[in-house]
Amino acid sequence: MGFFTKDIKSLNDLFLHGLHDLYYAENQIKKSLPDMIERATNPQLKTGFEKHLTETEGQLHRLEQVFELLETEPDGEKCPAIDGILKEGKELMGEIEGDDVMDVGLIAAAQAVEHYEITRYGALIAWATELGRTDCVPLLKSNLDEEKATDQRLTAMAERRVNPKAEGKPARSRPKSTARRAKPKRTARPTSKAKRNGAKKSRRRA
Ligand SMILES: [Fe+2]
Ligand SMILES: [Fe+2]
Repeated sequence: MGFFTKDIKSLNDLFLHGLHDLYYAENQIKKSLPDMIERATNPQLKTGFEKHLTETEGQLHRLEQVFELLETEPDGEKCPAIDGILKEGKELMGEIEGDDVMDVGLIAAAQAVEHYEITRYGALIAWATELGRTDCVPLLKSNLDEEKATDQRLTAMAERRVNPKAEGKPARSRPKSTARRAKPKRTARPTSKAKRNGAKKSRRRA
């Protein structure tokens, strides 16, 4: 990490460190996705993970292109953050029983990974821009866009689970005994004061 040896002395060092870090993270994610694909029971979730595995391979390739531009070897520095996120997800999956709950757990674990990646790519893009390495930005931006799209797809899947209408399933109807009756439209009634005034007027007329 370099925190104790203090080998990060400039923004450029920080940028390179972050790139190595993320290269390691993407490799670890690539290794973890086949297990998530196997555990997912919802076909849409399974297909989503398969798609993201292919995307992750492409993302690694783009990072290698960034290293090439920077004339640096892509050796991934160990990243304890992604190790922790993936370890927690794996442990959670080992404790879950039941397909539906497993899918919910998988979505949450996958979103934790995506959010990590989104913050890291965001920082790298900002640093690359500040350093004038605009040649690296489009490659990093393509990866960021894929992570954001994946995150949005996962959110949509989680929402459809709680709102079956969105998935095209009929919404569960309320049992008759507890169904609320539609309130009848209330027509404006005269207030008691208006009633008294009306009575006074009619007495005067009499
Ligand atoms: Fe990624
Ligand atoms: Fe991702």
